[in-house]
Amino acid sequence: MITAGIDIGSLSTEALIMQDGRILSYAIAKTGPKVKTVVKEVLDETLDMASLSSGGIDYVVATGYGRVALDIADRTVTEITCHATGAYHLFPETRLVIDIGGQDSKVIQLDSRGKVVDFVMNDKCAAGTGRFLEVMADALELGIAEIGPLSLKSRKKVPISSTCTVFAESEVISLIAEGCERRDILRGLHEAIANRIIGMASKLMWTGQVTMTGGVAKNTAIAHILRKKIPLPLNIPEEPQIVGALGAAFVAQKAVATRSMRAMMFSRT
Ligand SMILES: Nc1ncnc2c1ncn2[C@@H]1O[C@H](COP(=O)(O)OP(=O)(O)OP(=O)(O)O)[C@@H](O)[C@H]1O
Ligand SMILES: [Mg+2]
Repeated sequence: MITAGIDIGSLSTEALIMQDGRILSYAIAKTGPKVKTVVKEVLDETLDMASLSSGGIDYVVATGYGRVALDIADRTVTEITCHATGAYHLFPETRLVIDIGGQDSKVIQLDSRGKVVDFVMNDKCAAGTGRFLEVMADALELGIAEIGPLSLKSRKKVPISSTCTVFAESEVISLIAEGCERRDILRGLHEAIANRIIGMASKLMWTGQVTMTGGVAKNTAIAHILRKKIPLPLNIPEEPQIVGALGAAFVAQKAVATRSMRAMMFSRT
């Protein structure tokens, strides 16, 4: 049984091909304004890598904010379910998932079977999301992959008082003008995001293991601060950006299995 999971996020799009619960291939691309074109490119890439044609896929599940724009999916499923499913399959002891993407952040509570029991979401403002970090990296003239490692070199915290992205950016610019070290400013910014996430997580039950998903899980400073503040084991998948697509591919596997079982039952009657 071969399925595909596609996650169309605000900043990145991922496709993943799965055969009988095993990942065959995956690819990541920037979403951009032409959603359908990006999805086709990223899916073609994964099909090429798996030496398959689109006819070889039994079922496609799409997730992410852009899922509604797709016409090639057999089913669309929420990001909450897909990130929970993906994280649970990678780390079965996961009871909390922290997904920090480009435009929103979520903390999801799972039960021991990987079912979503509750979640808290911030999709109202950019603060506490990957976009916030991108704006700050630009203000500090650094690449997004540089800010985590540089922040970890800080020996002095410079607290950032503004929670709004626009005000925090002005604050960062003023701090640079005052001669503050970029690494210390970054530490303050990362602490601010981590505190927002902890605030969201505090509304849920802290038990089992925590798994981070989404692109911000690649930021080593955020992971470091969360590890210090949350007294539970924290898992970072090897490629946290594909966890939504992975979950979507698993949901698709289940759909095919259910379909086959129904077909078998009806063929007997
Ligand atoms: N190499 C990297 N190092 C550090 N951070 C990164 C890296 N790559 C991406 N990010 C962060 O990940 C964010 C994007 O995450 P992701 O790809 O999960 O978003 P998305 O799924 O498109 O968004 P959403 O789910 O909110 O619609 C970026 O804004 C950036 O902050
Ligand atoms: Mg996402």
